[in-house]
Amino acid sequence: MITVRVPAKVNVQLGVGGLRADGFHDLANVFFAVGLFDEVTATPGEGVTLSCTGPDAASVPLDDTNLAARAARLLAAHHGLGDPGVHLHIAKAIPVAGGMAGGSADGAAALVACDALWGLDTPFDTLLELAAELGSDVPFALLGGVALGRGRGEILDALPVAGTFHWVFAVADGGLSTPAVFRECDRLREEAGTGSSAADVPTPDADPALLAALASGDPVALAAALTNDLQAAALALRPSLADTLAAGTEAGAIGALVSGSGPTCAFLAKDADAATAIAAALTASGTCRAAHATHGPVRGAEVSAPRP
Ligand code: C5P
Repeated sequence: MITVRVPAKVNVQLGVGGLRADGFHDLANVFFAVGLFDEVTATPGEGVTLSCTGPDAASVPLDDTNLAARAARLLAAHHGLGDPGVHLHIAKAIPVAGGMAGGSADGAAALVACDALWGLDTPFDTLLELAAELGSDVPFALLGGVALGRGRGEILDALPVAGTFHWVFAVADGGLSTPAVFRECDRLREEAGTGSSAADVPTPDADPALLAALASGDPVALAAALTNDLQAAALALRPSLADTLAAGTEAGAIGALVSGSGPTCAFLAKDADAATAIAAALTASGTCRAAHATHGPVRGAEVSAPRP
């Protein structure tokens, strides 16, 4: 039995370029891995089967569309294993369809878990390539830490970070569809008259002030530099998120933004005590389903239990 622990992410910068011919958007995407984890446990089985526990388990698909199942099949096919045998159990704490790459995290964890269970020793670079085939956010869940994602988010460069930042995540009732949020972003750009294609929108760049804030470990500077080009679209689709953002700011957060495509809202706190207080205030505010205080950056997907 192999258990892999894998973190959620927040995007401290999500710069969205124009719509490409392949249906994706070029990004300047600064991923930040935070201490909210799923655990994927692989045991020998027949075919690829899945189970899931956790507060959102009922909304996790247990068929071949699940990224964990797709990851197991992709790894087996890459190594020419005719008939992969594995049962994957997902202990889910990352919100589902929450803008924290929980499905991508499970895909990354399944790659690492199956690689260990089947004794394949796949080079890390190959795992990263397989991860990119599964989805734009899957490679980062393998890498962890903080990284700049270019292209559709899959071309990664690790970024230097000093110290630990303290975060609070306010989980909403229900999810948002990532493609729907990108479509809404395009629609808002068309409505504003700026155009939404790759020819209309300049390719975004990482913000030097944000990179400097990460490198120096300065939460106030990072808070000032937080940006998410998908935030207006997420708010248009879920206007109540404005109340969540306001509640966290009122409770003392030094920075607030929608996490990725939402609807989870992310709050930066000045220290661990402030994060605990903000989480309590958000829970009491009634503007979210739950609020969790945590920290980051943390490591990417890794085996957390030794082989028996
Ligand atoms: O790569 P992934 O499967 O996670 O992407 C889900 C969807 O999100 C894509 O089909 C696309 O609609 C949208 N997307 C995008 N540009 C990106 C990443 C995702 O438009 N860079």
